[in-house]
Amino acid sequence: MKYPHAAVCLLMSLIVTSVAAGDPAAGVPTAGTPAAGAPVASSPESIARGKSLYLQHCTSCHGKDGRSLVDVISDATDLTDPEAYYSGSSDREIFTSIRDGAGVSMPPFSFQIKDEKDIWNLVNFIHSLWPVAEGE
Ligand code: HEC
Repeated sequence: MKYPHAAVCLLMSLIVTSVAAGDPAAGVPTAGTPAAGAPVASSPESIARGKSLYLQHCTSCHGKDGRSLVDVISDATDLTDPEAYYSGSSDREIFTSIRDGAGVSMPPFSFQIKDEKDIWNLVNFIHSLWPVAEGE
């Protein structure tokens, strides 16, 4: 018997060391959740962009109108009713729900929608589905 175990250990420690070397100063992303960047101001263009992303990625669970009436995945939030949100309805909370996922069955979209601006465009689109507050 040679020393396959020792070889594997060495390999593992090399991998671990190189992963651990990813510090922010070197520009390598580290584990953990970075804060959301600056929001994109709402505008007709931003909402239109958010809508097209929504139609591409979100209707299967939340429905075309955001109401989640078609119960494909149980309990997908009715996005048109801010009071029904489980994880909070501030802009940043919505942003985080989309980027990192929410609850058990809302998948994170950070892999498919890589530009944070596009996630903010989705936030702006979702706002456009809400009832207009009284007095506005
Ligand atoms: C695979 C089904 C699925 C897809 C696709 C999906 N969602 Fe969800 N979403 C859910 C479920 C289920 C929940 C409720 C999660 C929970 O239990 O808190 C949810 C919750 C959310 C919430 C949080 C609301 C709250 O309750 O706080 C937001 C915002 C949201 N979705 C937006 C989106 C957007 C935008 C997309 C497309 C980019 C999307 N979702 C795609 C299933 C989905």
